[in-house]
Amino acid sequence: MTKLSVICGKASEDLGEKLAKKVNANLVKSDVRVFPDGESKITLKGNISKIKSVVVQSFYPPVDTNLIQALSMISKVKETSSEVIAVIPYMGYARQDREFLPGEVITMKVLAKLFKGAGASKIIAVDIHSLIGLKHFTIKTKNISAIPDLAIYFKKLSLKNPLIVSPDQGGKERAKEFAKQMEIDYIALDKKRDRKTGKVEIKTKKVDVVGRDLILVDDMISTGGSIINATKFLKKEKCGRVFVACTHALLMNDAGKKIKKSGVTKIVSTNTIPGKTSIVDVSNTIAKAIV
Ligand code: R5P
Repeated sequence: MTKLSVICGKASEDLGEKLAKKVNANLVKSDVRVFPDGESKITLKGNISKIKSVVVQSFYPPVDTNLIQALSMISKVKETSSEVIAVIPYMGYARQDREFLPGEVITMKVLAKLFKGAGASKIIAVDIHSLIGLKHFTIKTKNISAIPDLAIYFKKLSLKNPLIVSPDQGGKERAKEFAKQMEIDYIALDKKRDRKTGKVEIKTKKVDVVGRDLILVDDMISTGGSIINATKFLKKEKCGRVFVACTHALLMNDAGKKIKKSGVTKIVSTNTIPGKTSIVDVSNTIAKAIV
């Protein structure tokens, strides 16, 4: 009898396959058809464990399509498995974790109800934007960090007097952890975002980075605005090369190109979102959280 099965959604197929191997589970793939009107039709291919199953699916764009596919797979798997763990390598909507302006919907609250309702008994996320998002869930949750995996990659590069930089104060702890792993120092810039327009601005006046290679660390890159502003500021301060380390590289539209144009040497991200920059594999870290 299959003790553990890993069901991978289309958005996390490669990561799901790697994970299944690492936890020695039966791999169940999903066959997905998206109809012209946008509806998803999913067929699971393989034997689902009656005991425990892990459904792996990120929800990067198309966010709502990938989200409904995750919920649908969980619901189907729950018909067979008594325990269903939802591994969400990239959790979309995580920035909507509180009411910043009156009347705003806290979408993370809605997700908490949806995942419970679908049949998940536990959520595992990787570097969720903020732990506040997980507080809305009434089922078990766990956030795991990809920082050690990213740090292993950067330790192998030969960098000149490197320094870790967070583009904002919100990422200070992340930068601190990265710096600890790399046994180097860190700083955090002051970033201000206009809540209405989304425009970002660096408020820090001066930093001592002359000639130093910098690693800008963030949980995610969406439009690239945060990274571009930070890089322009750091370049003015006469730093050396700027590398970017992030867990989730959404890189919307031509964000990758714009970031390079601002002076970034390389963007390194993880496979929570597959893409050109996702060179760091987090399957081992997720596997450790499951077994
Ligand atoms: C914000 O607090 C996050 O940690 C990221 O810095 C932000 O979401 C990145 O978005 P963008 O690339 O659009 O600036």
